[in-house]
Amino acid sequence: MFKKDFVWGVATASYQIEGAAYEDGRGLSIWDDFCKQDGKVFMGHSGDVACDHYHRYKDDFKLMKELGVKNYRFSVSWPRLIPNGTGEVNPKGIEFYNNLIDSMIENGITPYMTLYHWDLPLELHYRGGWLNRESSDWFYEYAKVIAENFGDRVKYFFTFNEPQCFIGQSYSRMLTQAPGIRYSNGEVVKMAHNVMMAHGKACMALREFSKGDVKVGYAPTYCYWYPENENDPKEVDASYEKSFKTELDPNGFGWLSAWWSDPVILGSYPEDGLKLYGKYLPDTWKEDLKVMCQPLDFLGQNIYNGTEGHLDENGNFVDTKRYDGFPRTANMWHVTPNALKYAAIHLYRRYKLPIYITENGLCNQDVISLDGKVHDPQRIDFLNRYLIALDEAIESGAKVDGYFQWSFMDNFEWANGYRDRFGLVYINYQTQERIPKDSAYWYKEVMETNGEKLYEHLK
Ligand code: BG6
Repeated sequence: MFKKDFVWGVATASYQIEGAAYEDGRGLSIWDDFCKQDGKVFMGHSGDVACDHYHRYKDDFKLMKELGVKNYRFSVSWPRLIPNGTGEVNPKGIEFYNNLIDSMIENGITPYMTLYHWDLPLELHYRGGWLNRESSDWFYEYAKVIAENFGDRVKYFFTFNEPQCFIGQSYSRMLTQAPGIRYSNGEVVKMAHNVMMAHGKACMALREFSKGDVKVGYAPTYCYWYPENENDPKEVDASYEKSFKTELDPNGFGWLSAWWSDPVILGSYPEDGLKLYGKYLPDTWKEDLKVMCQPLDFLGQNIYNGTEGHLDENGNFVDTKRYDGFPRTANMWHVTPNALKYAAIHLYRRYKLPIYITENGLCNQDVISLDGKVHDPQRIDFLNRYLIALDEAIESGAKVDGYFQWSFMDNFEWANGYRDRFGLVYINYQTQERIPKDSAYWYKEVMETNGEKLYEHLK
């Protein structure tokens, strides 16, 4: 059962919804630049206007309130706050986020702020980005500005969203994220190291300079393995081991779980990972671990899908073949509710920190029907299955404190532009009209009944 004070919420990110890319002194980010490059983003879309949330946030929070949302995870645009990434602070940026936070609070919505959801100031990219060892000091400075200005009203913070993506997919592997420039594994391992240093320093800044008592976490992601035979403890263990293993990736570096969380939470790099990648770490790595590993109040985790596995006749844990017609979302991700269940179980087992599912949701091709409404039974079914699975994780002992659905509204889905829709609220990008989908009303009831609604089909 979801505990009485379980945090039900929704999530978004700055570049994906704000728009106003060239207004009020905002600096450029690597995404502004990436979107202008041919062939990088679906149909040449960009976040220039996005959901125009920058101008419409008051109405958006009114709508959130009407839809029963009490907790909201959002991110701050670093270049809107500090246009060059370091140095001069943009007063209009401070004003915008002050108004945003006040408006949330007026509507009874608790802010959960993410410091970095991928929009690195372009200027810092020119200075070497995350490969520059100074990057953790830049991030410290940014976190200090955030703490000093917003730490009186914002209590919950996440430092980074999905480092696996903004490092792994941006500088290695598929190169589908900005800046989409290939670096060697050695360089990418150093970037990852600097990001974790930045995380540690930001935790310090948030705690030192906030006026209120703040709670700090981290929001990585991964596709976890789960057992085909849940009653076989050996198979459960094998799915756990596989999930945290560091293996060589022919496509590059970055798609890992333990590598990104052990240093930050346990204060050590995983042994198997050190054998493969330890040679690339800076000489100071052992000392640096002390900076990276700051006490965390919770662990965030974005979970969309994962892989089922089983022990074969030789006792090896192997992926279970997916049957023909296995359900997929519109962006081809597999529908695997037990990935959410075992993400929670595995993560709690390893890190013993309360968990927030910081993102989870369905990509769909939603349309406005002839009746003027947006019917999205697939999303309701998806969320229902995943949330039942999460409830099962809680039943089996994982401490899960909250869940943020991705996303409150349709938005700029990075390299997929406006092709994909993840929202509970439909956005008509021509008119900026907001239309709550059927799933928004359904999720409202889930939140109001603290999850009882999930079991309605059994009645
Ligand atoms: C996560 C990101 O990877 O998944 C979100 O944190 C993103 O920002 C979401 O929108 C969906 O991914 P994509 O690649 O389909 O936009």
